[in-house]
Amino acid sequence: MSEFPIHPVPPHFADAHINAKTYAALYQRSIDDRDGFWADMATEFLSWDQPWHTVVEGDFSKGEARWFGGGKLNVSYNCIDRHLPERAGQTALIWEGDNPADSEHISYSQLHERVCRLANVLRARGVGKGDRVCIYMPMIPEAAYAMLACARIGAIHSVVFGGFSPTAITDRILDADCRTVITADEGRRGGKVVPLKTNVDTALTSCPNVHTCLVVRVTGSTQAWQEGRDIWYHEATTEVARECSPELMDAEDPLFILYTSGSTGKPKGVLHTTGGYLLQAAMTFKYTFDYREGEVFWCTADVGWVTGHTYILYGPLANGAISLMFEGVPTYPDAGRCWEIVDKHQVNTFYTAPTAIRALHAVGDAPVKRSSRDSLRLLGSVGEPINPEAWEWYYRVVGDSRCPIVDTWWQTETGAQMITPLPGATDLKPGAASMPMFGVELALLDEGGAEIEGAGAGYLVIKSSWPSQIRTIYGDHQRMVETYFSHYPGYYFTGDGATRDQDGYYWITGRVDDVLNISGHRMGTAEIESALVLHEDIAEAAVVGYPHDIKGQGIYCFVTPMDGVEPSESLRAELVALCATEIGAIAKPDVIQWAPGLPKTRSGKIMRRILRKIAENEVGNLGDISTLADPSVVDHLVANRVHPE
Ligand code: WTA
Repeated sequence: MSEFPIHPVPPHFADAHINAKTYAALYQRSIDDRDGFWADMATEFLSWDQPWHTVVEGDFSKGEARWFGGGKLNVSYNCIDRHLPERAGQTALIWEGDNPADSEHISYSQLHERVCRLANVLRARGVGKGDRVCIYMPMIPEAAYAMLACARIGAIHSVVFGGFSPTAITDRILDADCRTVITADEGRRGGKVVPLKTNVDTALTSCPNVHTCLVVRVTGSTQAWQEGRDIWYHEATTEVARECSPELMDAEDPLFILYTSGSTGKPKGVLHTTGGYLLQAAMTFKYTFDYREGEVFWCTADVGWVTGHTYILYGPLANGAISLMFEGVPTYPDAGRCWEIVDKHQVNTFYTAPTAIRALHAVGDAPVKRSSRDSLRLLGSVGEPINPEAWEWYYRVVGDSRCPIVDTWWQTETGAQMITPLPGATDLKPGAASMPMFGVELALLDEGGAEIEGAGAGYLVIKSSWPSQIRTIYGDHQRMVETYFSHYPGYYFTGDGATRDQDGYYWITGRVDDVLNISGHRMGTAEIESALVLHEDIAEAAVVGYPHDIKGQGIYCFVTPMDGVEPSESLRAELVALCATEIGAIAKPDVIQWAPGLPKTRSGKIMRRILRKIAENEVGNLGDISTLADPSVVDHLVANRVHPE
């Protein structure tokens, strides 16, 4: 816990949507009268074509949850059409290009037309309710149109982050049997181009079921073209009608699949549904960010991650908000870019990841001080624990000690924020995700699975269903039950550790499983290990994380070459390249240490605890190594360890 001072709720948040009193009362109600609470929220936040008959049913201990049974609604209608009477001319999306000279305002009526046209194109290609559509896009407005167009016709989108490799695209397309892909010729990021269509072409050589590939023209570079399959977006969308009737969806119909990494095996397709997801996206957006009519909200995430889904698109648009979407990176053309954008578009709330804050902090205050940032009212953090030093810098320098920071804890699987301070209700403790959101029942468990009372540290679990809960892992329901609902029967297991202090604040300490968090991106050690051992010269690999000043965690690989293979710099470079082609650039190892042997128990299990200590350079106390089959391998690893920083 930090010795940093507590920041009380500032006076200018006295009239926030939620204050300390209303938080306590509403939270209590959300637990005591769960059905009544969520029914009221569902009425307040969403427009239903048909009311539900049952708020929630299902056996939580089996991971079953059905919310708003019998209810019908359409997500795109809720995010666009219903706002038109009041806000047709109001901006829905502000797009800021990678190049500071490029930006565009898209009004709700323009959004309506563009989403309808694309939805009509998809329908004309035979895409309908329940069909899966892969979206592999740069951060351009068409990415938002694509997601909303799928929602409009009841198709299930699977957005694949634009930084993933062709192999990763293939895996995801095949897993969900997507038959349609929406992409762009190229993306622009930090002054460089990303060959998206080329990557898709490579991926599609192994995906025979894909019949349609819609391509947005961004850079205009020449592309290979498969007649019949490949279609220019700008041509197809002009040939269809500008109105498209939204498909009537059941509350429990799937809205999207989003792949995320776990501690074992390949990434899994987390499935979210229509009513519950949209409700919790909408509610958390309004309350966590204390969103006010007409404010400009900027979430810097990529739409390829859940944060982009929930807080660039669905949460803001369900509230009729103005959401800023940024194509580029915080350091291009220079480290002042974010603050220039804040001034240019008069951003009121800025929501980013600790890794970006640390990177900008490292450059110093000058690029921040060049801007006024007078429009800022609130700051947010998401994706990984924020160290109190970075928090203080963000608060003092970026927010001029005026803007509260909401440090929001949640996951792809939770769909929406679960733990966060509320700016008008919660005194801020730097580094603490703080308090459960409405309807979120938390507990900390000890090793044996017993609930810890009062202050203490343990495994963070959730005790009862919430509307935007993961419904299944696409195509593998059993894996969902095993991953989240069988470690501690009766609880949803988050995979995170946390501490609760004497005031009831939660402090997330990080993953307790074999999942890494690299610059806020989730990555399974198993995925990187499988990539490394694809190399014919490699016998075995074990990957662990180590603390990294900017990225939060770095990737440290212990690699055993085949007998007779001499480790070399070129082999090292090939392994780094292999991770990039198998997964994506974000999976490139920071450290590769050659390991003639790995520390294994007599039953052959790798003792990662020891490897983690070596990677962290904490070799003074390696703990008990007597159960190792060959304790001498440890000496070799310790003697040859790499000090990453
Ligand atoms: C971590 C991102 C500490 C955590 C929304 C979680 C955090 C994983 C925070 C989910 C936070 C997210 N403080 N840790 N405020 N937010 N995490 O699925 O380990 O990409 O389990 O969702 O990120 O990552 P995911």
